[in-house]
Amino acid sequence: MMQPRIAKMYVNAIAASAQEFVDRIKVLQDRKGEMPEDFLNELHKWSLESIAKVALDVRLGCLDENSHPDTQRLIDAVNTFFIKVPVLELKIPFWKILNTPTFTKYINALETIREICTKYIQKSLNSAPKSNKDDEISILQRLLLLENDPKIATILALDMFLVGIDTTSNAAASILYQLAIHPEKQQILKDELKIILPEKSTPITRENLERMTYLKACIKETMRMYPVVIGNGRQTTNDCIIGGYHIPKGVQVIFQHYVISNQEEYFPKSKEFLPERWIKSSPCFKEHHPFASLPFGFGKRMCLGRRFADLELQTLLAKVIRNYTLEYHYQKLDYFIHPMYTPNGPLRIRFIEQDL
Ligand code: HEM
Repeated sequence: MMQPRIAKMYVNAIAASAQEFVDRIKVLQDRKGEMPEDFLNELHKWSLESIAKVALDVRLGCLDENSHPDTQRLIDAVNTFFIKVPVLELKIPFWKILNTPTFTKYINALETIREICTKYIQKSLNSAPKSNKDDEISILQRLLLLENDPKIATILALDMFLVGIDTTSNAAASILYQLAIHPEKQQILKDELKIILPEKSTPITRENLERMTYLKACIKETMRMYPVVIGNGRQTTNDCIIGGYHIPKGVQVIFQHYVISNQEEYFPKSKEFLPERWIKSSPCFKEHHPFASLPFGFGKRMCLGRRFADLELQTLLAKVIRNYTLEYHYQKLDYFIHPMYTPNGPLRIRFIEQDL
């Protein structure tokens, strides 16, 4: 899953979900062309649709007008799971003694996720093909062919649903918001896209994604300033020295992406949204410390879905910005941790259709 080559096999499937999202914009717009208050939920639907295609090769129809109630139940359950985890893990663990309401909601959410996902996973397992000649066979089926162990394949697919929805959709929300409030950067992106995708309907391919340098820079810059996962942790397995501090074995060490990637020391003009800083040919470019911005973590436990998340974000952004101009006409939103790091407030972004 970490090989770019593998993720790129799913370009068509991922682009199909992005197209469904773009088609849905017209349905969602109010008279001013703005998105509804629950726009983030629409992005959850898009990321769920994408991950279902990649993990299981099923079309859930999340973005259809009459989507199956399972899809919203799944989105809500994943949301509940993420909100409850920090409460249960970081506060006094009363749940170890009695069933607190938070713990009950958490378990119920996990049960809903298990129930809905296993239903679709089972269907997909039953239809597993015998060969992987077909580039776009699902991750579940690919793993099954490699390991021949339905249990491992099922667990991986479950994990993909658990952590592959809110992360990507919140990242997408943040990127769209940043472009809406930085029209000059959006214009540069638009100019790039018009060259690579001459028609609004030009298909997204592996080759044209390669050329979208500014688009990738916009994603990296948003993730630098507003990493959706603000940090990750490790427990030391040996005594070690980190930055001159002696850390005994067994201590929890938190790596704070958010703090580090917003420091002047590592990124000059760190408070400015400057996608150019990621482009080698730009005067703003400066080699940065390789650990200074790690929105997907690092090492053996780094994000397993990184390549898919990147591909999903690139495809969505390319389609949206090639088809629409984004504007935002309200007070700037603060960011908050809920539990992803995202803009706090309804994303009433205005979508204006592009003529050509
Ligand atoms: C923009 C979207 C995403 C972000 C920012 C993100 C970020 C992260 C981070 C920071 C970690 C912890 C890494 C570490 O401890 O070093 C992680 C773990 C993980 N992510 Fe993602 N993720 C995203 C999307 C996805 C998607 C789409 C999938 C599934 C297809 C996924 C699957 C996983 C899995 C399975 C792990 C656990 C890996 C392990 O513990 O070995 N993620 N992610």
